[in-house]
Amino acid sequence: MDENTNNLPIVSLDYWSDFAKELVKFVNLKPNGKILDVGTGSGACLIAVADELGENCHLVGIDKNEAKISEARNKFKDIVVESVQFRTMEASNLKFDDNSFDNILCGFIGFSDSYDFENNQLIGKNEKMKEIFRVLKTGGEAAFSTWKYQQDIEIARGLLQKYLRDKNMKKNNDIENLSISYSKESIDGFKLIMKDAGFNNIKIFSKSYNIIYKSVDEWWNMMQYAAWVMKYTLNYDLDKLNELKETCLPQGIRAFKQEKGFSFKKSVIFAFGSK
Ligand SMILES: C[S@@+](CC[C@H](N)C(=O)[O-])C[C@H]1O[C@@H](n2cnc3c(N)ncnc32)[C@H](O)[C@@H]1O
Repeated sequence: MDENTNNLPIVSLDYWSDFAKELVKFVNLKPNGKILDVGTGSGACLIAVADELGENCHLVGIDKNEAKISEARNKFKDIVVESVQFRTMEASNLKFDDNSFDNILCGFIGFSDSYDFENNQLIGKNEKMKEIFRVLKTGGEAAFSTWKYQQDIEIARGLLQKYLRDKNMKKNNDIENLSISYSKESIDGFKLIMKDAGFNNIKIFSKSYNIIYKSVDEWWNMMQYAAWVMKYTLNYDLDKLNELKETCLPQGIRAFKQEKGFSFKKSVIFAFGSK
């Protein structure tokens, strides 16, 4: 992959909001429609919908994580729409009737339990995608965003691997097979799971962005959350994490320093399909 970030659009550190706005920009939202956000997190996609449609929308957000549902409810305290509700729910078992929603949005919930994106084959029953298709109205449109590539996170993983090797902390095979911390997906695989669920008029493309961290500390703080494999592999041991930060990270990311800060590429797949 070409790693040049110079001419890419910049996303802020609050990239979830930026990508939610991008997703909403590309989808044909039905004014006054009933809109579901699957894996709503802190509600970024529904906030983008409310910005786009104003009061004219009926919004439902679901997430399997109850804490996220509370966060989303809080974010919506001051946003005025016709109706909004948030419910704790599993995407593979949506508690809605068939043909319930005009639009469904689904940002970054991860479909690697349905499709082996590395070896390009269907695994499992593709339940999440099938459930989304089932509750979408005939004639409605669903829109998805998912990760294709996150250079900042992959570099963090590489530096963790180097640290583990230098310290002889794990078997080579385990080091090679460390999780990448995010669901890395592909256009072809995503097309296949959408087709398998029954979607028509599938449109998929990817777009790359530049994320800039002002300092090593800013990058490190973000990686604590996004590159969770670091904390997890080091058993949340603060001394080891600090050693990794002090010894490996600054040298490892020096090559990414540009005028405004440490610059990395993030690539997102946007996918759309109708019923
Ligand atoms: C990376 S966050 C993205 C949040 C939001 N969609 C956005 O674009 O900003 C993914 C969210 O999906 C939720 N999620 C993942 N798998 C899910 C599932 N099977 N059912 C319901 N929620 C799920 C997670 O709890 C998390 O809040």
